[in-house]
Amino acid sequence: MNNKNPEHIFKEIPTGKVGWKSPSNIALVKYWGKKSGQIPANASVSFTLRDSLTETIVEFSPAKGNNFELEFFLGSDSNEKFAKRTSDYFNGLADSFPFINQLDFKVYSKNTFPHSAGIASSASGMSAIALCLCEIERKYFGNSISEEEFFKRASYFARLGSGSACRSIYGGLVTWGEIKGRESSSNLFGSNIATNINPVFDTYHDSILIVDSAQKKVSSSVGHGLMNSNPFSQMRFDQANNNIKRLMSVLKSGDLEEFVKIVESEALTLHSMMMTSSPYFLLVKPNTVSIIDKIWEYREETGIPVCFTLDAGPNVHLLYPEKYKNEVLAFINSELLKYTVNNKVIHDQVGKGPVKLEL
Ligand code: PMV
Repeated sequence: MNNKNPEHIFKEIPTGKVGWKSPSNIALVKYWGKKSGQIPANASVSFTLRDSLTETIVEFSPAKGNNFELEFFLGSDSNEKFAKRTSDYFNGLADSFPFINQLDFKVYSKNTFPHSAGIASSASGMSAIALCLCEIERKYFGNSISEEEFFKRASYFARLGSGSACRSIYGGLVTWGEIKGRESSSNLFGSNIATNINPVFDTYHDSILIVDSAQKKVSSSVGHGLMNSNPFSQMRFDQANNNIKRLMSVLKSGDLEEFVKIVESEALTLHSMMMTSSPYFLLVKPNTVSIIDKIWEYREETGIPVCFTLDAGPNVHLLYPEKYKNEVLAFINSELLKYTVNNKVIHDQVGKGPVKLEL
């Protein structure tokens, strides 16, 4: 088959649909700051979540014109903003996926968590769409690659949509960025840490306390950009790479005291980078701080190794082992819900990664 002959390809252009369900993730060691080409300034590690998912179905048919057309539906509503974002993303990938300009697309996407919950949907959303593109390629355009290559490719392209999305392609604990001594690590895609994980982390819980569900005022991409001129950035990148090393050994040993120290310090450092950027900004809210205070008090009193992390927003992720689930849920209900919007909390835990939809 001559792939270079567009007319020939056009005659064979199929109509079809593919779908993937892909999770969000929460970073333990944070990615904040990047180089051009969506290369992270330091390595990061995250837990992939189980229940906070984006489900995306991409329907396609032969393009009516010379370039693709794309409609985007979020739930049952057509969404211009996401249509534009996805079209820009597809345009950027047209050299890698030549079929893009030969098709028209309808993208149907929905989140299992409320859109207004203040949870970033870019990691789950962009990973789902990258998986769909790779699926169209392998199913309809004859790219027969191994499962391993398929996910690596999906992670590579998810990264180009939103950096942290490349980690959502894998389940469990996932790294992104070059880590000394870890051959599988790369700046270009995520890879999961499959061995040497203490079982306590297989079922770790993440209860997300929604302190504010409004759209954040400073986007992640602006925040990453401000790291270029932050006077503390190099120190921060070194610290993160060092925290990865420490965390790797904790993930093996299951030393939860050390886990708590690394994870909370990472969250606070992320936000201190925001406060020391120019212009400076602040994404935590008074209730974020009240929750952190309560967590520290509770840990001190009970010895239960519950800790918090934050992503680029005011909501608090409460991380704890399965073993303490009942105690921590009681603590959340009695002490923390009052600091949330309408008692909003999303109980999630570590998940196994994306799932293909059988359509
Ligand atoms: O992937 P982005 O560009 O939305 O950046 C994510 C940044 C953090 O969530 C704050 C940290 C991380 O590693 O996920």
